[in-house]
Amino acid sequence: MKKLTEEFIRMFGKSDRQIRFFAAPGRVNLIGEHIDYCGGYVFPAALTLDNVVAVRENGTSKMNMCATDLARVYTADLSDIDKAKELKWGNYQAGMAKELLEAGINVRGVDMLYDSTLPFGAGLSSSASIEVVTGYALASLFANEMPNRIEIALMGKRCENNFVGVNCGIMDQFASAMGKKDCAILLNCDTLEYEYVPLDLGDYVLILANTNVKHKLGSSKYNERRQEVEKGLSYIHTAAPDDKRPYLCNYTVEDYLKYDEYITDDIIRKRVKHVIYENERVLHATKVLKQGDLVSFGQILCEANDSIRYLYEVTGIELDTLFDLAMEEEGCIGSRMTGAGFGGCTVNIVHKDKIESFKKNVGGKYTERTGLQADFYICRIGDGVREVSVNN
Ligand code: GLA
Repeated sequence: MKKLTEEFIRMFGKSDRQIRFFAAPGRVNLIGEHIDYCGGYVFPAALTLDNVVAVRENGTSKMNMCATDLARVYTADLSDIDKAKELKWGNYQAGMAKELLEAGINVRGVDMLYDSTLPFGAGLSSSASIEVVTGYALASLFANEMPNRIEIALMGKRCENNFVGVNCGIMDQFASAMGKKDCAILLNCDTLEYEYVPLDLGDYVLILANTNVKHKLGSSKYNERRQEVEKGLSYIHTAAPDDKRPYLCNYTVEDYLKYDEYITDDIIRKRVKHVIYENERVLHATKVLKQGDLVSFGQILCEANDSIRYLYEVTGIELDTLFDLAMEEEGCIGSRMTGAGFGGCTVNIVHKDKIESFKKNVGGKYTERTGLQADFYICRIGDGVREVSVNN
């Protein structure tokens, strides 16, 4: 943290007050895509790529925020926090401050410097990690009683829904807050019950392949999908008025087969089919993983990719190209897009002796076909949000 401390002092000056450091990771989702907001099961894991923040109280009512790759400081006034919605950068942080204030925590003015190893806009939840690290840092400084990590995650979700305006589910913030080294989290997004599942991949590694594109319409398409599944749920409620359940994922594949003919809109039927089958796939996938059957786990990931590609339709040419190319590679036993889609990353299970050939072949052909450059990261699974010692 020495370098970050120096930069912090260069940016905000010296003071007697203490600078503290906090880190929160991004996540990869292994399976269970676009079903967190349908009360489904998801299976994410926290990465070792993260957002670190250096923070110090400043004796004012202002949050002064900057990042190591930004040229200027953005300011939010805690006494008029809604105004910070207009900020080009810093609105996630301001939204978190608002959540803490609403929870009765007496947030005061701070200087904050962020440093990220997470690629931005790559579908690895850089925004959730900013929300979680900010909430955790401000609560650590100002709360009389520290909220637990799940509460921080829920504040992050509300911040994104209400302040930022993306109607996301709980998965990303939960993974960033609750991640555990070398484990994925099987999370029931309806009840928030969860279980850590060791990710023991033996001779295999997870490789993230970044398309390096982020489609502009991503967040509006995201909100559109949410409306479509709401519509799907109302079709089922109409078909089965005596069996109304709150979420789509409260219905099983058997139920789907009973009600699908009542969903007269073809697009909505495809969306609902994805959601309900994906939910069952998550449970199947985690079961085979626990049994050590990595090959079946990989196959289920590929089936999930077909579903999100052809039924939910949130991939696009770049993600599809990366998936198709991965399937051609010897030593790759599973692949799928991860996260919201519309660009971002695929996650691939690759034999450790084939890492270099995988990167070279997939990367080379991806450039030939799309004119774009892909990036590859070996995925290491780390812990959730935490305070970091100054000596790190
Ligand atoms: C984004 C959202 C999550 C989740 C995924 C898709 O990452 O933030 O809540 O819906 O997309 O699974």
